[in-house]
Amino acid sequence: MTARWELGSLFDLAPWPVDAGADPGRRPWDEHDRRLTGTGRGALALALAGGGFRRVWVPSYLCQEVVTSIEDAGIPVARYADSPVDAEPGLAELALAAGDAVLIVSYFGVRRRQGASAAAAARGAAVIEDHTHAPCSAWALASTADYCVASLRKLLPIADGGVVWSPRGRALPPEPPVAAALAQAAATKLEGMVLKRLYLDGQAVDKVALRRLLAAGEAGLYAGTASGMTALSRAVLGAAPIGAWDRRRAACFAAFAAALPELPGVRLVRPEHADDVPFSALLELDTPARRDRVLQRCCERGVYPSTLWPLDVPGDDLPPAHRTLARRLLSVPIDMRYAPDDLVRAAGVVVASSG
Ligand SMILES: Cc1ncc(COP(=O)(O)O)c(C=O)c1O
Repeated sequence: MTARWELGSLFDLAPWPVDAGADPGRRPWDEHDRRLTGTGRGALALALAGGGFRRVWVPSYLCQEVVTSIEDAGIPVARYADSPVDAEPGLAELALAAGDAVLIVSYFGVRRRQGASAAAAARGAAVIEDHTHAPCSAWALASTADYCVASLRKLLPIADGGVVWSPRGRALPPEPPVAAALAQAAATKLEGMVLKRLYLDGQAVDKVALRRLLAAGEAGLYAGTASGMTALSRAVLGAAPIGAWDRRRAACFAAFAAALPELPGVRLVRPEHADDVPFSALLELDTPARRDRVLQRCCERGVYPSTLWPLDVPGDDLPPAHRTLARRLLSVPIDMRYAPDDLVRAAGVVVASSG
């Protein structure tokens, strides 16, 4: 129990490994040829370079920095419809051509898209799967994609980190060295993580200043060039009890789900497959206004859900329903920083914030 209770936002310096000898879990990237990178975008860049693709199809609901990084690499991007609440991606009617790659996303660990992946491959496209939200899921472990990528710092308490692996044994460029810009950004972020730990422990640390460090470090991680993963993140990734942490998330999700009553306009998105472990407790609110109200009130009470991802980008190839969905979702962290009791408390905060 920390001296100052809050839940969410970027990682602090977590006490890793949680307990020595705890379950490291099965890691799909250790079962294939793989490269460890500084970021998820850097991992994707290696997959794209390896495949020499002419066009990349991306889902409409996606972190737009990922889309920009593909365009900046000079590869045309086209969109198909998919989101965390769609039953199936809208791939069937697309005119896939030779040289096309399709990026398929594992959304919040709540959906499996193996059928869509197989169908795209059967139609001649290369498949790149993004497993950021559930890198060791049953889907990721059984993947037959050309490439799989993940940004690892979203789920693990590391300042930087990404990985690309190829279940099909496709070519991958060599692992790049650690870029100076990434090392600098990761060091800045790490300062913020250490200070956040001290802050949570009750020390007289300036929260505004530590948040500035975290944001500056985060913003500097991807400088447009591929980078390897820092030595610290590599070591933590090697030692991290990912299997134990997956089970912790499952327990935290179950506690949150049990403690959250029926609330008007609030829906908890549950995993499609009961044995999948979600990335977070994803809440779908009925209107953007209610989402914004609940978000603000939660933050006033020390619960900081994420808004993943803003879709207010120009262009008419994004389904309006997905633009609105991006303004209706809240992602409540359930990771290894927390125990089930914390999520019971967080559910109480959501209840108090939703009236
Ligand atoms: C699903 C997903 N994939 C990839 C990325 C890119 O990761 P990175 O910021 O490490 O480049 C993000 C970033 O938010 C993401 O959410």
